[in-house]
Amino acid sequence: ATYNIGFIVGSVSSTSINRRLANALVKLAPQADLTLTEIPIANLPFYSADHDGGIPAAAAEFKQAVEAADGIIIVTPEYNRSVPGVLKNALDTASRPWGQNSFAGKPTAVAGASIGQIGTALAQQHLRSILAFLDAPDLQQPEVYLQMTEGLISEDGEVSNESTAEFLLGWLRTAHAHFELHAKRNG
Ligand code: FNR
Repeated sequence: ATYNIGFIVGSVSSTSINRRLANALVKLAPQADLTLTEIPIANLPFYSADHDGGIPAAAAEFKQAVEAADGIIIVTPEYNRSVPGVLKNALDTASRPWGQNSFAGKPTAVAGASIGQIGTALAQQHLRSILAFLDAPDLQQPEVYLQMTEGLISEDGEVSNESTAEFLLGWLRTAHAHFELHAKRNG
């Protein structure tokens, strides 16, 4: 089956290398029977417990998009060895009000690109901890720690290196199996 997957980019930078990686995944996704649609996070207000009584429209829309998706792919940079605040804010927004966690049971898969060799490994470690608490089962392997080199992925998501493209497609196919498993479990 084809699954409708929402993706979140953990960077709001206009020159984001993680957006390039996300664009590459969008292009490759049909070959893995996945349709990828962005769930934007840049317009979300900072989460506050004040919202629990009356959820802001942008937050409600974001929560609904997460809930409607068959699974979520998160493509994130590493900021200071963790996830960017803008991404954490989105996850916190989705998790509340208490008892209405939009990520509960939602299968997820994480990827990231960095200019450094660690390739967001530490940010993803933090992200996996957050997803565990949110009860959002994440794909364990393979891991995508991409070091973005000059010209590797164009702005519109064209991957210049054949083995990188194959690796990303293989990852999407494994993610498909992960989404399928949880679609069956969730009924
Ligand atoms: C970074 N960068 C970075 N890289 C990394 O590998 N580990 C890190 O801990 C950090 N920390 C960090 C903090 C802050 C505040 C910035 C602005 C940058 C560099 C980062 O990988 C690089 O800026 C990427 O281009 C960020 O991804 P996007 O926004 O281009 O997708």
